[in-house]
Amino acid sequence: MLILGIETSCDETGVALYDSERGLLAHALHSQVSLHAEYGGVVPELASRDHVRKLLPLLREILQRAGASPNAIEGVAYTRGPGLIGALLVGAAIGRGLAWTWNIPAIGVHHMEGHLLAPMLEPEPPEFPFVALLVSGGHSLLVEVDGVGRYRILGESVDDAAGEAFDKTAKLLGLPYPGGPALAQLAEQGDPQRFRFPRPMTDRPGCDFSFSGLKTAAINTWRGLEPTPANRADVARAFEDAVVDTLAIKCRRALQATRLRRLVVAGGVGANRRLRERLRELVAELGGQVYYPRLEFCTDNGAMIAYAGWRRLTAGQREGMAIEVLPRWPLDSLPAVD
Ligand code: KG4
Ligand code: ZN
Repeated sequence: MLILGIETSCDETGVALYDSERGLLAHALHSQVSLHAEYGGVVPELASRDHVRKLLPLLREILQRAGASPNAIEGVAYTRGPGLIGALLVGAAIGRGLAWTWNIPAIGVHHMEGHLLAPMLEPEPPEFPFVALLVSGGHSLLVEVDGVGRYRILGESVDDAAGEAFDKTAKLLGLPYPGGPALAQLAEQGDPQRFRFPRPMTDRPGCDFSFSGLKTAAINTWRGLEPTPANRADVARAFEDAVVDTLAIKCRRALQATRLRRLVVAGGVGANRRLRERLRELVAELGGQVYYPRLEFCTDNGAMIAYAGWRRLTAGQREGMAIEVLPRWPLDSLPAVD
C-alpha cells in the first residue's frame, strides 16, 4: 500500500511516500526557521501561510524523485493534531482534498503517535511492548506502549515540555531560535563542574517531569554573570546536564515499574547527543536496548506520519469527509489497532 504522509503541525512542512512493501520511497522537508527567526519564535499565521505555499511543490518533488504517479497513491495520512490550528488545517484541507479527488481513503494522524512510531522506519525496529520517551517542543511524555494505539501514560510534564525549556533557556542566553540545537552545541564547550542546577521532581515518586524551575535556575545564574562566551557555555552545560539527568532518572523508573527493557526515544529533543549517550548507557546497564529514529526523523517529518497513517489505514480506520483538526488531543484517547 502506497501512502502519502503530510506533516504541517508547526513550523516544518514535511511530506513522504511510504510503501508498505518497499519502505520509504521519498521524503522532503521545508523548515520555516528563517521565516520565524526575526520574531524569536513561531508566528502561527506566518506558519500557516508558508505551509500553503510549500506543500504542493514538495509533493510534486517527492513524486518525481520516487518516479511515482499520483495514481499509484492508495491512502493519505495527515497530521490532525496536536499543534497550531491554522497550520494543521492546511495539511488537513489539502490531504483530505487530495484523497477526495483521487477517491482514496484518508486518515488524520496524532503527531505524537507519529513520533512514537518513527523508529519503526529503521532497519531494526523495536518490537512491542516498549517504553517510549517522547520529548518534543510541545510535549514530554513517558508512555508504556503495548501496540499501535495501546498507550498508557506513565508520566508527563506538569509545565514546560523539554524542548520548550531548551528553547526558552537558549533565548535567555541570547541564542537564535530555534534554541535547542544551538544550546546543545554551546554546551559542548561548557565546564560541567561550574554550576549545578536542580533535578526537578526526582525526589518524588512517579514519572512526571517539571522543567520550568530549571529555566528559573538558569535565569538566576545567568543574571549574576558577565555575558561572556565562556559563562554562556557553562550555563548551557549545567542546563543540559540537568535535563539529561532528569530524563534518565525518569526513564529508569519507567523501565523498572513496567519491567520492560526496550526504550524508544523520539521527538526533537531525542536528537540531543548527550541524552542519546546517557540513555544508551542506562539501558545497557539494565540489560535492555534503546531505539532511536535516525536523526532527521527525531524532529518533525512527513515519513513518521505516513507510517503511522499506514498502520491505521491498513487496519481499516478511515476519516469522514469533514476537515477536522484537534489542536489538543490526548495520546491515550486513540483507538487501538492491533
Ligand atoms: O519534535 P519536534 O521537531 O517538534 C515538536 O513536535 O515540537 O521538536 C522540536 C524541539 C524544539 O524545542 C527543539 O529545540 C528541540 O526539539 N531540539 C533539541 C535538539 N534538536 C531539536 N533540543 C535539544 N538538543 C537538540 N539537539
Ligand atoms: Zn513533533
